[in-house]
Amino acid sequence: MPFPEMRMRRLRRTPLLRRLVRETMLHPSDFIYPVFVSDVISSPEPIPSMPGISNYPLAMVVEEAARAFEAGIPAILLFGTPGQKDASGSDSVSDEGIIQRAIGEIKARLPDLTVITDVCLCEYTDHGHCGIIKQGYVDNDLTIAQLARQAASHAEAGADMVAPSDMMDGRVEAIRSHLDNEGFELTPIMAYSAKYCSAFYGPFREAVDSAPQFGDRSTYQMDPPNAREALREIEEDVDEGADIVMVKPALAYLDIIRDARDRFELPLAAYNVSGEYAMVKQMAKAGLAEERRLALEILTSIKRAGADLIITYHALDAAAWLREG
Ligand code: PBG
Repeated sequence: MPFPEMRMRRLRRTPLLRRLVRETMLHPSDFIYPVFVSDVISSPEPIPSMPGISNYPLAMVVEEAARAFEAGIPAILLFGTPGQKDASGSDSVSDEGIIQRAIGEIKARLPDLTVITDVCLCEYTDHGHCGIIKQGYVDNDLTIAQLARQAASHAEAGADMVAPSDMMDGRVEAIRSHLDNEGFELTPIMAYSAKYCSAFYGPFREAVDSAPQFGDRSTYQMDPPNAREALREIEEDVDEGADIVMVKPALAYLDIIRDARDRFELPLAAYNVSGEYAMVKQMAKAGLAEERRLALEILTSIKRAGADLIITYHALDAAAWLREG
């Protein structure tokens, strides 16, 4: 039935009518909130490029985790800055590592909060790469053995889920079999499956001081123009035993999220990364748009594209905005 019998504007007439036919609704339980803990500070340190986000010392990280829990956010994703960085990222596999202690603190106070840990070496290595270097090249197989130890160490400390973000080949399988051997067969893996070599990670690298000291991450992270390759990466992780797969970043890769949703049955996460957050903050600061509307529009687009879970620095604010209605 064409115009004038059909009028699309009929269902847009009032707020409640619009709500009635809304296809995509965000909920605080869609969100995972990234939390930064650092061994080199003694009071919270705001991250300049990410207003509202801070690095927390061990003694205070539980307070930030509690804010997420009280906002109805089911999970946090924990990132650490160690006291000492070295060539193999040894803090990341130590019982006394920053993340291991942070997990202990958080689970003791908030046993019901889901604590997911980033499994990678870049925050722990002095060269800033996501793996172990051999002859100037990030060595895949040495790295995945270290990542498997790191994941088991996190599980031992009480992590509810591990999230490898390194983009080495075979790491999901290496982590899965090591977790199972160590008795952690119920610890799920959320794999950063299609992680692109993106300029949108800039603010994060400032936050954890993890910019590579030489070269870049293009020999392991994906080349942004490639879409079919993302599906191969995801398929590989599914075959290796991933429980949740992820596309990262989100906003410039909504097509990949849609492709992944159409192709795979697993829960799908998308990472609304630091640069996406910083852009919203800068636009709002410049008075070009309202932060709340920008952030909710972006988060809705990520869910509409097919993501089930959204990792976002806006989680606390978005949960509050959604409660206001
Ligand atoms: C570690 C890691 C990165 C992010 C999450 N885990 C940075 C990178 O690959 O350089 C980025 C998160 C963000 O930008 O919000 N490998």
